[in-house]
Amino acid sequence: MLLQDYNTVVTGAARGLGAAAARRFVAEGARTVVSDMDEAGALECARSIDPTGRRAIGVRCDVSSHEDCARLVATAEEFFGAPIDVFLAHAGVGFVGRLTEVEVERIRRAIEVNVLGSVFSAQAALHSLTKSPRASLLFTSSLQGVMGRPLRSVYTASKHAIVGLVKGLALEFGPQGVRVNAIAPAATDTPHLRAMLAATTADVDEAVRNVAASMPLGWLPTPEDFADAAVFLASPAARSITGHTLLLDSGAAAGIFKREPA
Ligand SMILES: NC(=O)c1ccc[n+]([C@@H]2O[C@H](COP(=O)([O-])OP(=O)(O)OC[C@H]3O[C@@H](n4cnc5c(N)ncnc54)[C@H](O)[C@@H]3O)[C@@H](O)[C@H]2O)c1
Repeated sequence: MLLQDYNTVVTGAARGLGAAAARRFVAEGARTVVSDMDEAGALECARSIDPTGRRAIGVRCDVSSHEDCARLVATAEEFFGAPIDVFLAHAGVGFVGRLTEVEVERIRRAIEVNVLGSVFSAQAALHSLTKSPRASLLFTSSLQGVMGRPLRSVYTASKHAIVGLVKGLALEFGPQGVRVNAIAPAATDTPHLRAMLAATTADVDEAVRNVAASMPLGWLPTPEDFADAAVFLASPAARSITGHTLLLDSGAAAGIFKREPA
């Protein structure tokens, strides 16, 4: 029980990596607010974690709305009857496309959700986290937060922004005891990944296998690996870690890699 009685909030948690993290937080003894712009999904995920509603509730929040983020934090504090200890700003969107061919609205939405949404989430959360003696603010960046990839330049820029936000906030709020870190996952098998791959390939299953084979370890990180990383960074085991982006990438960012024929 690494997070016994911690009060946690996860955005973008109706499914995928965020849902896995919220589930693990509760398994580690925490209470959690499962939030997502998909309200029915958030409620369903929270119910599946704790049908009694004592340790998990679902709340609608579109992180690109400043008002929604403020409301989420107020609802969480009311549910916990205490400040938030761990806030995982996970919600994010991506798209694949050559910049000269992408509609302006897709670009605007990716920046609104990934950059502004992370900033609004942090701004709202920090009002509460600064009242906790064990505060941890976590973000989800991406492998594209530390290295580029063709056809994903806007996504890459938005995820680099999170790495910068982590550094700035770690310095700004370290003196108040708030640790600020990010997790940067490589491709993980979730609806998010499959939607990105479907933009450029007909056989998504084969594409997933190829991505795995391109990694030094030969496998994709799993949603459970992501949850492990989130628990570690939120827990006292990481008490001296702040301003850090933790790669969860099966070795993909270590260098240029070519698998030797078997
Ligand atoms: N899956 C991967 O391969 C991968 C790799 C690196 C980084 N990431 C990052 O993880 C995050 C999501 O990935 P996932 O795999 O969990 O995706 P997912 O598609 O499985 O789930 C994303 C969730 O976010 C919600 N969401 C979207 N926009 C939102 C908004 N404006 N406000 C609140 N909720 C919103 C969706 O409704 C959905 O429930 C993103 O930040 C993404 O950049 C994913």
